[in-house]
Amino acid sequence: MCGIVGYIGNQDAKELLLKGLEKLEYRGYDSAGIAVKNESGIHVFKEKGRIADLREVVDGDVMGHIGIGHTRWATHGVPSKENAHPHQSSSTRFTLVHNGVIENYSLLQQEYLQDITLKSETDTEIIVQLVEKFVSDGMSVEEAFRKTLTLLHGSYALALLDAENEDTIFVAKNKSPLLVGVGEGFNVVASDAMAMIQVTDQFIELMDKEMVIVKKDEMIIQNLIGEKIAREPYKALIDASDIEKGTYPHYMLKEIDEQPLVMRKIIQAYQDINGDLTIDSDIVKALNDADRIYIVACGTSYHAGLVGKQMIEHLAEIPVEVHVASEMGYNMPLLSKKPLFIFISQSGETADSRAVLVKVKELGYKAITITNVPGSTLSREADYTLLLHAGPEIAVASTKAYTAQIAVLSILASVAGKKADLDLVHELGIVANAMEVLCDSKEEFEKMAFEYFTVTRNAFFIGRALDYYVCLEGALKLKEISYIQAEGFAGGELKHGTIALIEDGTPIVALATQENVNWSIRGNVKEVVARGANPCIISMKGLETDEDRFVIPEVHELLTPLVSVVPLQLLAYYAALHRDCDVDKPRNLAKSVTVE
Ligand code: F6R
Repeated sequence: MCGIVGYIGNQDAKELLLKGLEKLEYRGYDSAGIAVKNESGIHVFKEKGRIADLREVVDGDVMGHIGIGHTRWATHGVPSKENAHPHQSSSTRFTLVHNGVIENYSLLQQEYLQDITLKSETDTEIIVQLVEKFVSDGMSVEEAFRKTLTLLHGSYALALLDAENEDTIFVAKNKSPLLVGVGEGFNVVASDAMAMIQVTDQFIELMDKEMVIVKKDEMIIQNLIGEKIAREPYKALIDASDIEKGTYPHYMLKEIDEQPLVMRKIIQAYQDINGDLTIDSDIVKALNDADRIYIVACGTSYHAGLVGKQMIEHLAEIPVEVHVASEMGYNMPLLSKKPLFIFISQSGETADSRAVLVKVKELGYKAITITNVPGSTLSREADYTLLLHAGPEIAVASTKAYTAQIAVLSILASVAGKKADLDLVHELGIVANAMEVLCDSKEEFEKMAFEYFTVTRNAFFIGRALDYYVCLEGALKLKEISYIQAEGFAGGELKHGTIALIEDGTPIVALATQENVNWSIRGNVKEVVARGANPCIISMKGLETDEDRFVIPEVHELLTPLVSVVPLQLLAYYAALHRDCDVDKPRNLAKSVTVE
């Protein structure tokens, strides 16, 4: 996690760095800092909290044409000003920002830095102190930086300033994402292209264990033995307006509203010239050659994977297991003879998922990544990629990526399964229209959120079959942005323990969109109502009864998660608003979890 930026050119760096960090705040917002270099030295400003807090302490009179910046999601050391980046070496000659985790930092400290008093509790400070140590041992800065990199175990994206070196930012990457951007008379460094898209759309992707010497009109990419590497920039296809909120109060609301459009974009992106849905034939072959599919993901993407399992088993008739990446990495199940792995990741950078992908590739198996970010680590390292076409997702709580993941999985399943009786183009079109109807019913969801969630300390979401999977996602959305303790349960499972938690007025959201379990989920609702729960049944047209609080438009039974999740996203959004929570940046979280 954490985001880093750097600028070297002719403009004042401060504002560019601050603006870049604002775009990276999704990667963490426990503290932030920038360092700007000019003739009088390196000026460091840092603060606990958000970029807005950092802005308050930046001295507007300090100008400099070179700078680096950082927004932090705390791993080693509490969120505080002392632990905020940039970190400086003892003499303050070197200043560093870091995204990642250095696993052997205490060993390095014991071996090389015993006589140094550290100022922070971070693993990062060790890196900058090592560079200083090796320089004082007689190495050039470049040699010292390289030597330091060879000692680090773990993940890093680094940008280093040297007070005695006029015009260079030293940059390096291993496992954490990092790009260098190329401009006319300036160059930039960023954890992702969004941060610097305002100034350039030309970026060079760095590979693991590479370092770059960045000057304002040149950059030298090298590996860790000093060999130069030639690499051309690519054009980042991000529309600057995609990353603005426009007239929306929050990114989350904007992204919920974008879902119908995303459905239509996905249909278009996966249609061939005849209008039929199509998937790269190698991917379809990989699927059909497999005797079992293993879906690997975290959080919301894992929830999308659960829905995907149902779709692939139903439409392509291949058995599927869905695994939480952080568990699978250490507890690999007994694999089938011909496994195929599907990694689902909005960001394409999630460390837990990547760790499994690395193992899978070592074992020699094929992997598909389904991601929103072309060129992301998981995309690059898998054999095949399927893109979500959802546009940048900025709010920490994932919404449009979840529905995009499910839509892409449905296309994959139906193309692999060649089910003639499902006209998916038509059915996804119906889904897009139904989503629009739901997005137009915001007032109703705002009222419902007020009624059910303003004062409660907990809430339960129950459903059966596909509805159960959506309940897991609905509960995650509610808890992560409103801080209400919320759990999703299979309707039938409640009475095996959890029903003990039901008290007078406990909100229970029940989904009823599956015909074969419609009456059994309603039975489960009666059981909790008999114990005082306050029910909120959301059903689908055709299955509704008088007791239902909201009826969603009818869509194909297999595609209901795409639609039934929208009320749950909106309920979570308005619950968070009613409770005065920071919707787009919930506490303790970061959008892209690039540490294990
Ligand atoms: C929750 C949320 C997270 C992510 C999870 C995986 O709203 O966004 O649970 O789904 O951190 O992230 P990706 O999909 O980027 O691998």
